[in-house]
Amino acid sequence: MPVVLAFMNLKGGVGKTTLAAALAREFVKDAAKKVLLIDLDPQCNLSSIFFDPDEIVRFAPQQTVLHALYPDKGDPARCLKGVKRVFAEGSLFHTERSINLLPGSMEIYKIIATAGANEAEFCIQNFREVISQATAYDFVFIDTNPSANLATMCALQASHFVVAPMVMDMFSVRGIRILKEVFVDKYRWLNEDQRIIGIWNKVDIKLRDSAATSRLEKALAKSNPEILRWVLANRIYETNHLHYEGSRKGFVQDQTNVGRLDFFNRVLNELGHVCAELLQRIRLVHA
Ligand SMILES: Nc1ncnc2c1ncn2[C@@H]1O[C@H](COP(=O)(O)OP(=O)(O)O)[C@@H](O)[C@H]1O
Ligand SMILES: [Mg+2]
Repeated sequence: MPVVLAFMNLKGGVGKTTLAAALAREFVKDAAKKVLLIDLDPQCNLSSIFFDPDEIVRFAPQQTVLHALYPDKGDPARCLKGVKRVFAEGSLFHTERSINLLPGSMEIYKIIATAGANEAEFCIQNFREVISQATAYDFVFIDTNPSANLATMCALQASHFVVAPMVMDMFSVRGIRILKEVFVDKYRWLNEDQRIIGIWNKVDIKLRDSAATSRLEKALAKSNPEILRWVLANRIYETNHLHYEGSRKGFVQDQTNVGRLDFFNRVLNELGHVCAELLQRIRLVHA
């Protein structure tokens, strides 16, 4: 069974999508893991890192997350056969290290908005079935949109960890606290130690070598004392290399034309450290 990470925060724009992609690539690079990315956000931002919008809307519904939630007929896990390979590299031993993507679908809005209790349960069970059939992977990363709805429940029902990117402000810290408050009765594992893993993202580069960030961190922790316990020590700083805009596609690690190499290497370095700490945390908890 793969270890399943849900990238979540009720605050938008904190880097859920960006870090899901970048850390997947890092998991493969550093630890030779096989990763499945699932785009459970109807906005399809994760899919858009790899494909143009007109390609995404042309994917057959059976090859998107729509089928995983609500198959028109048959086995929901059939969508795993249609996943898109977004990275592949042959190693020395000819084992392939790869990342596949189950693309998103805007159509799932219709289900999220209208599902009654029975249909909701149907979707949750289908999604869980898909994950339980994803045995070819070491990890599944689920990207979610910033809301507390049926899609959120599908992800939480199937996940072992919440990975919560946060920028250093009150709302993104509260975004996790409230997510936990809303769902902890239903998903008791959210209460277990270290199951929610915070990552500081987009940290102001000016704060890099000063005590100011830790002062800020402490101030935020005052009203949310849990966060200091579960946020990773390694952080990702604000950088153009992680700022997706225009037509740039693919993983940050595979960018060419990177400008100043020292800046680019700094980002790779940060991603490497976060990946290592994240894997360590997962191993510790998920024995
Ligand atoms: N460390 C970073 N530095 C600069 N820009 C970033 C960083 N992380 C993410 N971004 C950018 O911030 C925006 C929001 O990130 P995104 O991953 O889409 O957030 P979310 O999925 O939480 O809504 C995107 O334009 C993304 O490219
Ligand atoms: Mg997103």
